[in-house]
Amino acid sequence: MKKVCVITGGGSGMGLATAKIIGRENYIIIVGRSIEKLEGALAELRAEGIEAESFACDISDRDSVDKLATYAKEKGKISAVIHAAGMSPHMGEARKIMEANALGTININEAFYNVMEERSCIIDVSSMSAHLTPKIIMPERSYKYSRIDTVLFMRKMMARVNLFPKKLRSSVAYGISKHFVVWYAKTDAAKFGKKGIRVISISPGNFETPMGDLEKESASEYTEYCAIKRFGYVEEIASLFSFCVSDKCGYLTGVDILCDGGCVASGCNPLKMR
Ligand SMILES: NC(=O)c1ccc[n+]([C@@H]2O[C@H](COP(=O)([O-])OP(=O)(O)OC[C@H]3O[C@@H](n4cnc5c(N)ncnc54)[C@H](OP(=O)(O)O)[C@@H]3O)[C@@H](O)[C@H]2O)c1
Repeated sequence: MKKVCVITGGGSGMGLATAKIIGRENYIIIVGRSIEKLEGALAELRAEGIEAESFACDISDRDSVDKLATYAKEKGKISAVIHAAGMSPHMGEARKIMEANALGTININEAFYNVMEERSCIIDVSSMSAHLTPKIIMPERSYKYSRIDTVLFMRKMMARVNLFPKKLRSSVAYGISKHFVVWYAKTDAAKFGKKGIRVISISPGNFETPMGDLEKESASEYTEYCAIKRFGYVEEIASLFSFCVSDKCGYLTGVDILCDGGCVASGCNPLKMR
C-alpha cells in the first residue's frame, strides 16, 4: 500500500508541482479552499497517472484541519505533510494573512502531530521575507503564546501589525507570519523528534507561481540583487521539497532552508529599496 502525502496549497503553484513529483511514489491528498481549483489540479495529476484526491479545508480553521488530519490517517500511513498553503500581501487584508500563514501553521503542525508516525516529515513553507523583513519589526518574544493561547497570540501579532500605516499592514503581516513559521518549525523539532518525525521550514525566494505572478511588480526589484537573476522555476522548489521529505534526508530537522537564488546573501535591505 502506498503511503499518504498531504499537500496543503496543492491546488496550484508549488504544492501542485510537488504533488507531481511525490505522487510517483505516494498517494496524494491535495488541500485548499477552492473546490474548482482542486478539481483542476486533480485532473492534471490523474492525467499523469498519479493517484490523488482532494480535501477542501481552510487551514485557519482548527476544526477543518482536525478533520483533514483524521481523514488522512484513515487513508494510510502518512509519509509527509508539505504545508505550502499561504497568502501573500496582495491576497487579502493583514488579519487574513496572519490567520492563514501563522495560525494555519499552528493548526497543521498540532493536528498532524497526533496522526503522524515514525519516519515521516513536515515541511512548513515560509518565505525569504522571514529573512529580509527587519528583525526589529518581529514580535518574537510573543511567539511563545502560540503554544498556550492562540487568541492571545493573534492579538499580540495584530497589535504589532497595527502599529504600521494601513497600506503597509498586509506586507508587515506577511513578513511577521513567515518569520513566525521559521520559529515555530524550529521549536517543534524536538517534540516531533520524540515520535521520530522531522520538522523543517523552507523559505523560498520569488518563484513563478500564481502567487509569484501576483507579487511580480514588487518582487522583481529583488531579482536585481539575486545571484541568479530570474524568478525560480516551480519545479526547482518542488524538487527541494520532495528531497527534504525523503528518507535520504533522515537527519535533517529543526532547520530552515533558504532557497532564494542568493537574494538574502546579497545583503539587500527592503527599507532602502522603497
Ligand atoms: N511564489 C513565490 O514567489 C513565493 C515566495 C515566497 C514564499 N512563498 C510561499 O510558498 C507557498 C506556496 O505558494 P505558491 O507560490 O505556490 O502560491 P499559490 O499558487 O497561490 O498557492 C497557495 C495555495 O494556498 C492555498 N491557500 C491559501 N489560503 C488557504 C487557506 N486559508 N486554507 C487552505 N488553503 C489555502 C490556495 O488555495 P485556495 O485558494 O484554494 O485556498 C493556493 O492553492 C506559500 O506559503 C507562499 O507564501 C511563495
